[in-house]
Amino acid sequence: MSTTLSRREWLRKGLFASGALTLGAALPMNSMGASLREDSKYIYYSNGFKELKRPKLPDLSTLKARLFLNENPYGPSPKALEALVNQAPGGNHYSWNILSELVEKIADQEGVKPSNIMMGPGSSDLLEKTALVSFMKGEGNIVSGDPAYMSLVNVSKSCGGEWKAVKLLDDYQHDLKKMEAAIDADTKIVYITNPNNPTGTITNDKDLYDFVERVSDKVMVFVDEAYLELSDKGLKSSMVPLVAKGKNVIVSRTFSKIHGMAGIRVGYIVGLEDTLNSIQKITRGGMGISGPSIMAATASMDDKEFLEMSKTKIAESRQFTFDLLESKGISYMPSQTNFVMFPLEVDGDTYLQKMYDEKVAVKVYKFWDKTWCRVSMGTMDEMKVFAGALDKAIG
Ligand SMILES: Cc1ncc(COP(=O)(O)O)c(C=O)c1O
Repeated sequence: MSTTLSRREWLRKGLFASGALTLGAALPMNSMGASLREDSKYIYYSNGFKELKRPKLPDLSTLKARLFLNENPYGPSPKALEALVNQAPGGNHYSWNILSELVEKIADQEGVKPSNIMMGPGSSDLLEKTALVSFMKGEGNIVSGDPAYMSLVNVSKSCGGEWKAVKLLDDYQHDLKKMEAAIDADTKIVYITNPNNPTGTITNDKDLYDFVERVSDKVMVFVDEAYLELSDKGLKSSMVPLVAKGKNVIVSRTFSKIHGMAGIRVGYIVGLEDTLNSIQKITRGGMGISGPSIMAATASMDDKEFLEMSKTKIAESRQFTFDLLESKGISYMPSQTNFVMFPLEVDGDTYLQKMYDEKVAVKVYKFWDKTWCRVSMGTMDEMKVFAGALDKAIG
């Protein structure tokens, strides 16, 4: 009893000290730091940004179009699958050797040293570890766009950090001027997702490069490039060259999107050796990746044909979606990713239920006083099923 009380007391003091209870008192946090109300139909990220809880999931295998998690329907590459299976009998061994070979291959491709790479079972792991290490003292703030991808922000908030959310511009790019103005002496991380999730939109690469180069002299800038390979300019607009120039920048990448390996779990960050050491002193990224996953990632990097096919087919589904929405007079955000966001004129819950009734899984958000549907790009067959369901749902 006394242990429980003292722990509770400690927690209360810690949370009050960091200010985390101002919102937390009203809204209990889930394990990701997003706020849930028992009776609520929303997951709250901020006062202005929330996601509708989806209807009770049907058996996922019965879905006709699985368009809610930004997965790649074409992956994994056949070469990755072969490598995965071939490595399985080595499952009795730890995988450090093959991991360091993969690190060298990635470093070579990125134009940095192996010591500039930290691996993880997916990039979420590394976003969260960066947040954990940056905010473990329970103080400081993180500046990001709003809406943003919330993994890093949520863990920062859970540790006691303050989220300084800067609304995206009307053209859905990051408002770099306001973000720079939001930085203060307590800012630990400036987080930019480019292209952004859930909007799918990209920020001008030259403006972003200048911003990151300048701002990283003051504070660490974390650029999440999960979808960059799918964008028009691809990796040409990556911020990795700034790491090579010695700037205080972390860039994250994942095998979950263009490589179609979301369930195989491989991602990495590129950063300064000292920064990565400070994270790896406390947490170990590579320990969480299995040998078969490492070999699958290695093989997938070499399967250029697969990667090109993925990008082309995803772009075709995106164009189909743009044309579909245009034909219905619905505007959409100019996505450069494998998902498209568009506004809904109908009630969000009713829409979501109708889509699920048609066995089509999508997501619905509320922000900027509007309700939005985010649909991931599936195969052309799935997109046609989506088109039929959309007809019924918006009537
Ligand atoms: C912007 C962004 N970053 C990171 C991730 C995490 O992906 P993973 O952990 O599969 O690498 C996602 C997943 O959807 C994402 O949208």
